[in-house]
Amino acid sequence: SRSIHFGSETMYIEENTYKNDMISLIFLLKEKVGALAKVLRIFEEKSINLTHIESRPSRVNKDEYEFFINLDRRNTPLLTDIIKTLRNEMGVTVHELSRKKKKDAVPWFPRTIQELDRFANQILSYGAELDADHPGFKDPVYRARRKEFADMAYNYRHGQPIPKVTYTEEEKKTWGTVFRELKTLYPTHACYEHNHVFPLLEKYCGYQEDNIPQLEDVSKFLQTCTGFRLRPVAGLLSSRDFLAGLAFRVFHSTQYIRHGSKPMYTPEPDVCHELLGHVPLFADISFAQFSQEIGLASLGAPDEYIEKLATVYWFTVEFGLCKEGDTIKAYGAGLLSSFGELQYCLSDKPEIQSLNLEKTAVQKYPVTEFQPVYYVAESYLKRNSCFHKSFCLFSFRRFASSIPRPFSIRYDPYTQRIEVLDNAKQLKNLAESISSEMGTLCSALKKIE
Ligand SMILES: [Fe+2]
Repeated sequence: SRSIHFGSETMYIEENTYKNDMISLIFLLKEKVGALAKVLRIFEEKSINLTHIESRPSRVNKDEYEFFINLDRRNTPLLTDIIKTLRNEMGVTVHELSRKKKKDAVPWFPRTIQELDRFANQILSYGAELDADHPGFKDPVYRARRKEFADMAYNYRHGQPIPKVTYTEEEKKTWGTVFRELKTLYPTHACYEHNHVFPLLEKYCGYQEDNIPQLEDVSKFLQTCTGFRLRPVAGLLSSRDFLAGLAFRVFHSTQYIRHGSKPMYTPEPDVCHELLGHVPLFADISFAQFSQEIGLASLGAPDEYIEKLATVYWFTVEFGLCKEGDTIKAYGAGLLSSFGELQYCLSDKPEIQSLNLEKTAVQKYPVTEFQPVYYVAESYLKRNSCFHKSFCLFSFRRFASSIPRPFSIRYDPYTQRIEVLDNAKQLKNLAESISSEMGTLCSALKKIE
């Protein structure tokens, strides 16, 4: 089973406020006598002439005003210092709207979970368009069915229940074959986490040989485990968009099933791949965290880093192996959903290397055949009698910190928003929230002493 969820295209911020000879900034100020004068003095000290200034009450904070200013592009070299002074010394929130150099532009990224709806309409290839070598290419019934699924996903919006599907007898038969065969391999080939969650999916989500589970049921189950949720997708997303979903703990999932003529093969992700490969691991707390951090690292990252992150995703979430004691097990979804490759990856045929993100991130890989190289995650903590993997979170964080981005971000699960941490007030809020959690932790520790 292959598992490319994405291609590669990037959307940049629409620079409609952008004029060739102009730089625009927006900054927020508390309503206070002299506050604006103080800011303007900074520009004056550097002899910068503002060509335009306007203000409006902030829509976010009632006691603040937003100022929009234009200045001459020739002042660009001085601007970095000014913005630094405004942010660090005066605690002012500054948004830079435009700068001449394209490489300075931060690619657009969704700030709220609702904004993932945008991706529904910018897929790279629609689910009903099949390649000439696709097993269903010459089957008009299959193609019509694929269009039904694609349309359903195309019209899906965040917050709606995922439409339930009545699968045909033939589709159920295909699922049954895949399910039965893979289940015989899991006890010996799948990692601890996969085997731990699988019986729960059978119990609560309708994972059975004669039943294709509904995405909506599975999504609800995952939300109770780790807050991960599924969202139907109509076709291929760009890597950037696909990874952005993970930042919100949203996994873009297909809902159709592979062609019945080849139950053990699919050139693209299908519902077997998602449900048998991906879903069990998303129920694991530490794996969910790791997946989300790949997503968070991708937001606003330059294109070359998106490619690196997609490669890391490939060799971990899709094709990852891990150590359990002295044995090696599979946790990658591309392996756990492929009868052939699951056996092959643990045989002596492929090359096995230790996961090293700097190196893994630039490894080339084929997408239409078994992988010649797999990477094994070594790091885990031994806890009680079972193995609890840390899923290379520490090394991933180090890797992610090398990605150039002019600001730090954080996901707020209460508002389901990405916060851009670029001013003193937000950092203070964050410190307060951590301090409150620390209080809870200390008091709980005292009670179990
Ligand atoms: Fe996948």
